[in-house]
Amino acid sequence: MAKKTHVTTTINGEPVEFLCEPRQSLLEVLRDVLRLTGSKEGCNNGNCGACTVLVDGVPVDSCLVLGVEAEGAAITTIEGLACDAQLHPLQQCFLEGAALQCGICTPGFLMAAKALLDRDPHPSEHDIRFHLAGNLCRCTGYDKIIRAVQAAAEQVNEGVAR
Ligand code: FES
Ligand code: FES
Repeated sequence: MAKKTHVTTTINGEPVEFLCEPRQSLLEVLRDVLRLTGSKEGCNNGNCGACTVLVDGVPVDSCLVLGVEAEGAAITTIEGLACDAQLHPLQQCFLEGAALQCGICTPGFLMAAKALLDRDPHPSEHDIRFHLAGNLCRCTGYDKIIRAVQAAAEQVNEGVAR
C-alpha cells in the first residue's frame, strides 16, 4: 500500500485533516475517507460534472483533482450548501421546479450553479446554459434545470439567499 500523505484543508467552513494516498482523487477522499457522499461519481473521467465541488470558489470536477491538492484550500461540497435547517434557494428551486429525476447529476448542477450565482447574480439564460455545459443530465432534458437556476437567481437578488 502506498504511503499516505497528511492533508490539512477546510471543508464547508470546518478545518479538516485526512490521510490519503497520492493517487486518490478528491472525489474518492470525500466519499470514501470523509464519508461526504453527496458528491456523485458518474463518469470518473471529467465528462459528466456529477462530482463538482468548489475549490476556493471555483467549480472543479473532483474526480480530476487529487486529494493532496486540497492542502490549504477551501472546499465546498453539496453538504455545505444548505445553511442550518434552511435549503439554499437553488436547492429549493430545484425541488419546486422538479428539476431532477434520478438525482445523480443534481449535486454537481447545484454546485456549478452556486459558483455562477456567486460570481454573477444576474446571469442570462445563455450564461446559465454556457456555465452548466460541463454538467450532464440524462433525465430532465435541461430546461427545468435552467428554469430552476433562473428562479434561484431571482430569489438571490431579492435577498432571500445568503
Ligand atoms: S464523475 Fe467527475 S466528471 Fe464525471
Ligand atoms: S436527474 Fe438523472 S441524470 Fe440528471
